[in-house]
Amino acid sequence: MTRVLAIETSCDETSVAIVKNNQVLSNIVKSQINIHSFYGGVVPEVASRQHLEIINQAIAQALIEADLDWPDIDGIGATCAPGLVGALLVGLTAAKTLAIVHEKPFVGIHHLEGHIYATYLEQPDLKPPFLCLLVSGGHTSLIYVKDCGEYETLGQTRDDAAGEAFDKVARLLKLGYPGGPIIDKLAAEGNKLAFALPEGKISLPGGGYHPYDFSFSGLKTAVLRLVQKLEKEDNELLSQSSVTKDIAASFQETVAKGLTKRAIACASDYGLNTIAIGGGVAANSGLRWHLSRAAASHNLQVLFPPLKFCTDNAAMIGCAAADHLSRGHISSLNLGASSRMAIQDVMELYK
Ligand code: KG4
Ligand code: ZN
Repeated sequence: MTRVLAIETSCDETSVAIVKNNQVLSNIVKSQINIHSFYGGVVPEVASRQHLEIINQAIAQALIEADLDWPDIDGIGATCAPGLVGALLVGLTAAKTLAIVHEKPFVGIHHLEGHIYATYLEQPDLKPPFLCLLVSGGHTSLIYVKDCGEYETLGQTRDDAAGEAFDKVARLLKLGYPGGPIIDKLAAEGNKLAFALPEGKISLPGGGYHPYDFSFSGLKTAVLRLVQKLEKEDNELLSQSSVTKDIAASFQETVAKGLTKRAIACASDYGLNTIAIGGGVAANSGLRWHLSRAAASHNLQVLFPPLKFCTDNAAMIGCAAADHLSRGHISSLNLGASSRMAIQDVMELYK
């Protein structure tokens, strides 16, 4: 059994957890959403300063809630890439300092690998290979999970992430931040067939379209044009909540269908019979509905971890760190933070 204290500070959640392999002993998550919503999105410098203010308190609280002390901890893990560099540095520096002071091994974790491991927290018996559909505010990918540290990105967005598209559309409908949950709620009361919106497709040089890559910026622009057209026709139209609900429902339907189509095609083509979902957009009711239905008709299993493990949290980072540690994968204390890093390169973190 490997007990890890893990830290996640890649964006706007300060999180510290203690896990014993796949079992969560404590998971402290302090969201900064209230602060960033004032600006309509995450402000990187504000995020770093907030992490710095609360990290020590979160570490202490994680130990208290797990009822453990430093001698009980086998290693320290922290997200080191990808993410906001200033924000990552806070968690990474705290983790490396704790590793030195308490003489524990240090394990740097790729944020997306953490999202993949979130599924194991609820499904400890799940074994690779499987497909992970990762849909968050910063990422939209289809990842072939082969083993611990062994991944292949089969599809990804060429522009905006799915969550980013929800946030941008919510902003142009003047609905607030983060947009995903607000649009989801409004969509439930709207008509998803009210407006025909284009599905983003990536053309291939030899003709046809990429079967697994995503694009959301064209869809966002289509919603912008629709709003401009409706406002031109009637300045007051958007203030009628039924129109906003119809736009929200039509947009959500287009995103959910596009994600579902690619995830199912990818799993079927690669002979993978399980699709695990990660990231904040996994909460979306339209996506859940389409994916569950399509998976059932294709004889595929689809796993939605509980929302607290889909959105950013340190428990998933700890779960990945415990697996790496148990395989002898340890990071150098010289490891730095990186804003970008392909998930294929994860094993570079343990050289
Ligand atoms: O995984 P996450 O917490 O943070 C990132 O790593 O980005 O995802 C946050 C994203 C935001 O863009 C938010 O609007 C979106 O997830 N989101 C949703 C829903 N709940 C959160 N998008 C669609 N429907 C939802 N119910
Ligand atoms: Zn994330």
